[in-house]
Amino acid sequence: MAVEDIGAQRVGNGNPGIGKQQADAGRCLECHGADGNSIDAKTPNHAGQYAAYLAKQLSDFQSGARKHEIMTIMAEDLSAADKADIGAYFASRKIMQGEGGDVNQSGRNLFANGDRSRDIPACSGCHGENGKGGIAGDVVYPVIGGQRKVYLRSQLVSWNLGERKNSPGGVMNTIAKSLSDEEIEALADYVSGL
Ligand code: HEC
Ligand code: HEC
Repeated sequence: MAVEDIGAQRVGNGNPGIGKQQADAGRCLECHGADGNSIDAKTPNHAGQYAAYLAKQLSDFQSGARKHEIMTIMAEDLSAADKADIGAYFASRKIMQGEGGDVNQSGRNLFANGDRSRDIPACSGCHGENGKGGIAGDVVYPVIGGQRKVYLRSQLVSWNLGERKNSPGGVMNTIAKSLSDEEIEALADYVSGL
């Protein structure tokens, strides 16, 4: 697939210009950053994230399928057009990038190969070799490569405990269920560096 097609797929049908204004007026940029790189470790980056993934999460906060005290309030009044436009704005920013550095080898191994003996599939199979995500039919695999480490760890813990359960068919709960704390730490360390 050509690079421009992937770019268009990321942005979707929303209007990035209107989305920027909405994100500013809605105070999203105060936490998620004007360029989609967040201001603190617990807050996810949105830079280069798939607009359709961001819109789905906002709908899930609205319906209660995903729970978070602040985001439930922030998402409350957004219309379908707002969600698409704000998503398009963040998706069109320069994609989040990790700082590289020392590679966590056990994290890399799990990411690239999974662990067949425990039915853990390779993360790269869905999230892509560099963790930059993809779309297959109706399912969006979010960008995780270069995401904040503390945020990645918190989401993996949350899938593991079954507190977050909004992935299609519960796929992330199934995958994260048998990860140990050490493995979650190693994965968060490796993936955030991509
Ligand atoms: C006060 C800080 C704050 C503000 C303001 C804020 N957010 Fe968030 N946002 C967060 C935090 C923290 C999370 C992580 C939630 C979690 O841990 O589950 C988050 C998560 C999200 C997610 C899920 C991302 C993912 O990778 O799954 C989306 C989408 C999002 N915010 C969009 C928005 C939008 C749109 C606005 C403005 C209408 C907004 N946020 C305003 C702090 C904020
Ligand atoms: C079979 C496909 C599949 C595999 C394999 C997979 N994931 Fe996912 N993952 C998903 C989907 C789909 C979502 C989006 C869930 C949603 O819509 O809320 C997701 C979401 C996530 C998120 C949340 C991102 C965010 O911004 O909040 C993290 C973190 C994550 N996956 C990490 C991993 C890790 C680490 C592995 C390997 C151990 C892995 N995934 C393997 C399909 C997969």
